[in-house]
Amino acid sequence: TQSMLGVFTRAKSAREHFNKMISRTAYSLNRHSAPISFKVRRSAAVTGRIRVPGDKSISHRAIMLGAIADGITRIKGFLESEDSLATLQAFRDMGVVIEGPHQGEVKIYGAGLHGLCPPPGPLYLGNSGTSMRLLSGLLAAQSFDTELLGDASLSKRPMARIADPLNQMGANIQTGVDGVPPVRIHAVESLNGMTYTMPVASAQVKSGVLLAGLYANGFTKVTEPALTRDHTERMLAQFGVTVHRDGNTVTIEPAAALKATDIEIPGDFSSAAFFIVAAAVSPGSDLTIEQVGINPGRAGLLNLLERMGANIELSEQTLLCGEPVANIRVQYRPLHSIRVSEQEVAAAIDEFPALFVAAANAEGVTLIEGLAELRFKESDRIESMAKGLRSLGIQVDVDGDQVSITGGLLNDATVNSFDDHRVAMALAIAGSRAKDEVIITGCDSVATSFPEFTEVAQKIGLRMHKEETHVST
Ligand code: S3P
Repeated sequence: TQSMLGVFTRAKSAREHFNKMISRTAYSLNRHSAPISFKVRRSAAVTGRIRVPGDKSISHRAIMLGAIADGITRIKGFLESEDSLATLQAFRDMGVVIEGPHQGEVKIYGAGLHGLCPPPGPLYLGNSGTSMRLLSGLLAAQSFDTELLGDASLSKRPMARIADPLNQMGANIQTGVDGVPPVRIHAVESLNGMTYTMPVASAQVKSGVLLAGLYANGFTKVTEPALTRDHTERMLAQFGVTVHRDGNTVTIEPAAALKATDIEIPGDFSSAAFFIVAAAVSPGSDLTIEQVGINPGRAGLLNLLERMGANIELSEQTLLCGEPVANIRVQYRPLHSIRVSEQEVAAAIDEFPALFVAAANAEGVTLIEGLAELRFKESDRIESMAKGLRSLGIQVDVDGDQVSITGGLLNDATVNSFDDHRVAMALAIAGSRAKDEVIITGCDSVATSFPEFTEVAQKIGLRMHKEETHVST
């Protein structure tokens, strides 16, 4: 009886744990009903030592490769945000057993390259472009059909850029009219390797094609117009897959199997970026962010800020599961304007909202060229940031894909994030340098990448908090 009771209790607690996980995922994917605003007060120096949550790009890839590997993959430092949970849920929907996340720890019982099951319905990927584009590649070669759906923002983003090359490999993928979601993937007999020159610099497209290449007959070669983040290549190597790089060209061999491995994920540079800029523009600041990923395809903001005169020091540099990490220390020093060329954009692609805020606080006119891709992010980031900064009294001139920002004093205002997490967080940093108080509306989206943003911000002296906006009916 004793042991029966033990089994029963364990089974019950496992079921409760599972239900709790499911409801948490459902909760975060459905969002809170009252919209959230950030209220930001003018802040003093930014100081302290902090960590930021795990890297979003790497979290997606760890789930994907763990799910199709042979054996058990244990992840530490997984980002528990809506986007990465959307990927995790998609693999649960395809029958993969995944425990967690619990304080960043996830255990995946790999189903093997050919072990995914047809999901019961469309896979809902929320706001996450990375999930949709990488999964398009991974699912192109499965023996079942899938349909990928997203929220209002993702449903406007270009998917032909990934469907086209995959169809050239023999996939059968349809997008909605104008090349936007839903993405409908029909099973095909086999895929062929190919040589593909990408028209735009996109790590998501490169990664989608490489994941399809895992299943193809023959080699798949992808050439990128500028070096983009290579997390997929580095993680494939961790799972035992041969990936070869020659200049801007990556080649993948089809794999017989992926070997499960343990993955530790560094802090997300793109989350750290907001605090790096906050310290760089707030007099008296001295901030250290520990164990942040500094993949060369990601950390371009550091070079740009240094050129603007920022005082940035890296220490404790090491490799964590094939990814370079470091402690980043920023001490305030006045910034001046710079000119940013198109070649520098890819390595800082997600950091332009933050860089615009640095430019608004710098002496002179900062000119940035080649920003066309910013228009295809979670919002049109050129327009969203131009509108926000102009409301705060900053001169922003937009000419096609070129933006110039004249540094100046920031006024108080209520500004809109356009439901874009990085716009919301960048405007919050801008608000901390305004006269008295700035309100940013539509900040629910911050939960897609950095749910604890305001709490971490408060720890280092930024005066901001979340407020539920009650809309009267
Ligand atoms: C990402 C690649 C980039 C980036 C996005 C994450 C990735 O997108 O903007 O936030 O994880 O591969 P693009 O490939 O569209 O540039």
